[in-house]
Formats: sequence, structure tokens, C-alpha cells
Amino acid sequence: MEITKTGGRASGQVSLPATVDRVVLTGFMGSGKTTTGKLLAELLGWEFRDLDREIERRDGRTVPQIFAESGEEAFRRLEAGALASLCGRRRVVIALGGGAIEELRSRLLLEQTPRTAVVYLQAPLETLLERCAKDEGTARPLLGEAEARFKRRHPLYERVARHKVTTTELAAEAVAEAVVAALRG
Ligand code: S3P
Repeated sequence: MEITKTGGRASGQVSLPATVDRVVLTGFMGSGKTTTGKLLAELLGWEFRDLDREIERRDGRTVPQIFAESGEEAFRRLEAGALASLCGRRRVVIALGGGAIEELRSRLLLEQTPRTAVVYLQAPLETLLERCAKDEGTARPLLGEAEARFKRRHPLYERVARHKVTTTELAAEAVAEAVVAALRG
């Protein structure tokens, strides 16, 4: 049996209620959506998809290039298109970008796609900004005006996600386990 990073559990050992076909992780930049998503997908034996990577694959430009050349509105359109295509997949964990929730079309997709469980990974803004500062490998063109963005988005995350996991004190493995527990109710 292959031993994985997920607490020594073999991939695919954990199952969710049969009513869930896809798990979508939302939350602000630095909330751990990608790291948690990969671990969760491994636990479930499902596919992992990161929305930013999907946008880049479809568009052929990097996220910072899209922002620099075409602006935020164009990025949100590309993001909603990429999300629509991912929402057609089954047995998938999807990590959203932190701002996807601001686009009405993306919110409607999340709310109206059946068998889709949206989970809000929550932490205080201070913690999120500390994590972003440490994560030098990820370019985040919209980190400016973080406080205003956070205030605007927090109620949207809360509204769209049926489940919430507070990540402040938790290591990534524990967050993935907490997501499973939240989804099992
Ligand atoms: C954004 C968050 C980023 C990425 C883009 C815009 C945002 O994703 O989609 O830079 O508006 O908050 P992460 O939340 O994965 O950093």
C-alpha cells in the first residue's frame, strides 16, 4: 500500500456522502486552497484542479500576464469560463482563486451546479497576509487593497459556501481532514 503525506493514509481511503461529486474550496488569497485541495484530492482518490492553472492552460498566458495585458474584468470572464468547464467534471476537488467569488456568473455556477459542495477556508486577514508574504513562489497581482477586497468578499464566501473551516491554527493535513469532517456533517 502506498503511504502518502496525508497522515499515512493510502490515497482514496476517505469517502464523502454519495450526494457530493465535486468539492470547491474558496477563500481569500493565502487561505490554503491549493495546498489543502491537493491533500484532500489525495485522501479521496479524486482529481485535483486549480482554477488559476486551468485559466492559464486555456488562455496560454500566465495570470499576471492576463492582469497586466487585459485587466481584472477580462480575467474574471476567463475565470468564469474555466470554472464552467471544471464544474462539468466529477470526483474532482477544485481550488478557486480568491476573487472568483466576486463574479456573479461564477457564484451562480457554484450555487446551481448540482452535487457541488463549496467550502470556505477562513482565517483572519492578518494571518492571510502573513502567509502570502511567505509564499514567494506565487505571483498575486491583486494583493494591493487587500483589506477592502477582504471586506467585500467575506460575505460572499459566507453566502456561497455551505461549509466553513477555520484554518488559523491548523496544518494543511488537518485542514483537509476538517473539510472531510465538515462535509460528512
Ligand atoms: C486573485 C487570487 C489569485 C488569482 C489572481 C486573483 C484574487 O488566486 O486568481 O491573482 O483576486 O484574489 P489565489 O487566491 O490562489 O492566490
